[in-house]
Amino acid sequence: MCGIIAVKGQNVLPKIIDGLKRLEYRGYDSCGLSYKTDVIHTVKTIGYIDNLEKKIPNKKSNIGIGHTRWATHGIPCEKNSHPHISESGKIACVHNGILENYKELKDKYLSNIKLKSETDSEIIPNLIEYFYNKQNRKNLLKAFFSAIQEFKGSFAIAFISEYDNNIYFARNQSPLVISKFGDEFFLSSDVNGLYSKNQVFYLPNNYVGVLSDDFHVYDNNLQEIDIKYTDYSNMICDINKDGFEYFMLKEIYEIPNAIKKTYNHLKTIEFVLPEKIDNILFVSCGTSYHSSLVGKKYIEKYAQVPVECEIASEFLYNDYLVKPNTLAIFITQSGETADTLKSLELAKNLGLFTLAITNVPNSSVTQLADSTINMQAGVEICVASTKAYTTQIYVLLELTNFLINQKKELYKSIDKNRTLIEGNRTINYIPYSEIGLQNLMDINISDIDIRIDKVAEKLAKLKHLHIIGKNYDYITAMEGSLKIKEISYIFTDAYPCGELKHGTLSLIDNDSYVVAIMTERKLIAKTLNAIHEIISRGGKVICITPFVDVDLSDACDVIFLPDLESVFLPIVSIIPFHLLSYKITRLLGYNPDKPRNLAKSVTVE
Ligand code: M6R
Repeated sequence: MCGIIAVKGQNVLPKIIDGLKRLEYRGYDSCGLSYKTDVIHTVKTIGYIDNLEKKIPNKKSNIGIGHTRWATHGIPCEKNSHPHISESGKIACVHNGILENYKELKDKYLSNIKLKSETDSEIIPNLIEYFYNKQNRKNLLKAFFSAIQEFKGSFAIAFISEYDNNIYFARNQSPLVISKFGDEFFLSSDVNGLYSKNQVFYLPNNYVGVLSDDFHVYDNNLQEIDIKYTDYSNMICDINKDGFEYFMLKEIYEIPNAIKKTYNHLKTIEFVLPEKIDNILFVSCGTSYHSSLVGKKYIEKYAQVPVECEIASEFLYNDYLVKPNTLAIFITQSGETADTLKSLELAKNLGLFTLAITNVPNSSVTQLADSTINMQAGVEICVASTKAYTTQIYVLLELTNFLINQKKELYKSIDKNRTLIEGNRTINYIPYSEIGLQNLMDINISDIDIRIDKVAEKLAKLKHLHIIGKNYDYITAMEGSLKIKEISYIFTDAYPCGELKHGTLSLIDNDSYVVAIMTERKLIAKTLNAIHEIISRGGKVICITPFVDVDLSDACDVIFLPDLESVFLPIVSIIPFHLLSYKITRLLGYNPDKPRNLAKSVTVE
């Protein structure tokens, strides 16, 4: 949430704008920048970075900070947008995170100061200046350090001042990275915001730093540490749309390749996991939570390890009962989701081995977890998660294989003919064939896209939409529902087919539309029952299925899925929803990449 950029170099204004554009997916309700000539100048605007770019003057400056905002305290407007300026006008500061004790700090130290905004962040430049003045204006770094000691909550902060030509910065929970390029330095909320990724330094938690003539970093005792750069130039942050109108459509079309790249990557690594895993706990949010629900079904069915799935913001408060030999898995595309990171810390405190599954190498989750599986879906810019979801499910399938093999090793002596009976089920080596996997990686998104425009035109007129499915298809229904409401603002709900008659059926009338997902052959009859219950009450059904041999003449539309091995169908059955939500959103005239009130990286609790 919120993106921070700072640059110390030559002619920094266009460089700050470039960095902010790369970070815009982190928040985009307002933005601003401050730069220094002999004094500090600040430019702000509501809306996108393009608006800010039009407002910046043609001036040369050697230091500056910029910010793209996702509002937490105070509505999106110029006065609440960053940078915030101290009362004297001499310190300009950008902040990502939440200061939980800002009211106490205001009362304790800044009672004589009249704040201009409704934000928690405006406290920061004023408190730095308070300590600077109190400490006889000797050392701005020490004043900054004193201010930080007072903050409760999460923060990444950068500031410039009229007192010197430095950029100061610090972080707690919210990430910050610094890159050196020639004799210039760039500071960013994440690697995606950096122009050059050859020499990158991740600022450790609770450390502070300063870009003066050189680059210095200090630990939480203000002891200077050595800086070791890492080369991330192979981390491609492709911010081009490659001819697609929006990132979302581009990212949907990248799904097969994202899986292929992850497949190739997984072949080259070993999963680093405990030898004995008797229970699994998944903790995640939003779309990543839905992929964990699919993972639960895979693992319980094929590897027979009991699995629990928790929503991170709930897990933090539900007094989890620890089971022996539990592996705790944290799925997070961004690697920065605050609820997920806090849950990971809690799991570690409970003594669990923690595994992160993420799409962003070196993100915060990778630094906290005992082990990490990096997906290779490539940078996902659209707020709505598409290729990351399908890749997560693929990774969970491979994790299932790992668990099967791990069990096989444990029971080697009785494993004579490559199958193993445990409880009431047979455990097989792999729940799919190599050819089946190849077919998944070769799917053509345009084939699924064929009927989407026609269906989208119908759905775009609705105020609400119901989505139903059974078993795996119910999870797809939940994820499809999230996708449609997230970007098109049409209210959708998701139900298991069998639940309709326990309440929701009363809503069905001649104006109702229901999308029914039907991908499991053994459940066709049950799903058809639900479809007929809807149709006989006047409702219209759109069916998503791979089965061309089933009579669906009653349905008002059918969207066909590719004919794949059944274990892959939860990966592809979501794609019609990706396309539908995109097309409905465009028909309604909204921007699918930047839905209102949301941001890609949710770094606040
Ligand atoms: O980065 P994460 O996977 O931790 O993000 C979790 C959710 O915020 C995210 O999946 C959200 O639900 C998406 N915008 C849905 O499309």
